[in-house]
Amino acid sequence: MKRRFDPSGALRGSARAAADKSLSHRAALLAAMTSDPVRVTGYLDAADTNSTLAAVEALGALVERGGDALTIRGTGLRAAAPAAGVIDVGNAGTLMRLLPGWLAGQPGGGSWTLDGDESIRRRPVDRIAEPLRLMGARIDAREDRFAPFTVTASPLQAIEYVLPVASAQIKSCVLLAGLTAAGETAVIEPEPSRDHTERLLLRCGVTVTREEGRICVCPQDELELRDLHVPGDPSSAAFLVAAAVLVRGSRIVIEGMAANWTRVGFLRILERMGAVLVGELEPHGAPLSPDEPVTELDVAHGGLVGTTVEAAEVPLAIDELPLVALLGCFAEGETVVRGAEELRVKETDRIATVVDGLRGLGAEIEATADGFVVQGSGGLRGGTIASHGDHRLAMLGAVAGLASRDGVEVEGMEAAAVSYPGFEADLAALGGA
Ligand code: S3P
Repeated sequence: MKRRFDPSGALRGSARAAADKSLSHRAALLAAMTSDPVRVTGYLDAADTNSTLAAVEALGALVERGGDALTIRGTGLRAAAPAAGVIDVGNAGTLMRLLPGWLAGQPGGGSWTLDGDESIRRRPVDRIAEPLRLMGARIDAREDRFAPFTVTASPLQAIEYVLPVASAQIKSCVLLAGLTAAGETAVIEPEPSRDHTERLLLRCGVTVTREEGRICVCPQDELELRDLHVPGDPSSAAFLVAAAVLVRGSRIVIEGMAANWTRVGFLRILERMGAVLVGELEPHGAPLSPDEPVTELDVAHGGLVGTTVEAAEVPLAIDELPLVALLGCFAEGETVVRGAEELRVKETDRIATVVDGLRGLGAEIEATADGFVVQGSGGLRGGTIASHGDHRLAMLGAVAGLASRDGVEVEGMEAAAVSYPGFEADLAALGGA
């Protein structure tokens, strides 16, 4: 589906960005792992998170959809059911990497095959297969590293695992496997990454500690989870925020956005670039707690200066780095992102697709092995950009269009529905699009 985004007048008003995708995946998975019903409000109704609901149903959980809430009746921690066929993870990398952590230690044995779409089949699973094998599970993957792959449950032993990359998905997989392993499982992260799994496990009554990048989890008989609310996704809100910063005269308010410090790295980068943002973000490095703080964020248009994003900041802003590239086109001077080679294994190779896509719109941008370098050129001409089926690239193109001189045509706009089906409607309600 092609969609055109013309240069926009000022964006005004308030929006509630789509529910958080990372939290929705985890809410469904953890609710499925408990045996009492869990009511979840605000669950993200999008392609990725619907794949997770279908997956937990395939494993024996019951999902009742009613109005604003879902009620999930799980199987209990050690009672995932055999699935009738292949579990289809669709486009959802988070589902593909987290679910095996639960399945690997099922005491009744069993094996489950996971597969997904064309994009998911290009994304590595050796990164979770390695720690799960060290714990005693069996994983058989295509070419030893891609979907489709089969997880065969076995008794698990706790490990201490040093993450080769700062990835919340790998960390979460190992922590979930730790719930059914013998002994205390530890994960050591090179840099902090999003910590929703740790927070939710605390809410489930699990003993989880984090000290200087070492996260420990103890095995558990059962999980107990009370009702949950999923706040707005800072990664989805980031597209509206970027549009407001770039389009002259804009002033918008984002309501109900998650303000967890491990998710707001993009907003910190934006502040450094000179943007005016008002909101209560959780302080950087806040101690682990079961809560997910929420804020209202007030954003206004303003001039930007270039910045450098270093490796330590990358996991805190990983999904928003394409937007940093776009903002860099409008900023004074040079904007550099380093230490972000992980972008190459996202829904697309986001170093290649962002650099090619923005260059096609007139950007002065060069790819590097682990990021990109953008020269601010006072704006963007416009043109055509392809989403390549990547939701964040589709939304990037739309925002670029609103801020461009001639407008942007986005090929494959339907990809936005993976994480933010209401994106175009929200933009339109603010006066953009
Ligand atoms: C996610 C973690 C990140 C992120 C992805 C969601 C999660 O991936 O890019 O969109 O929910 O844990 P990595 O952990 O692989 O960096």
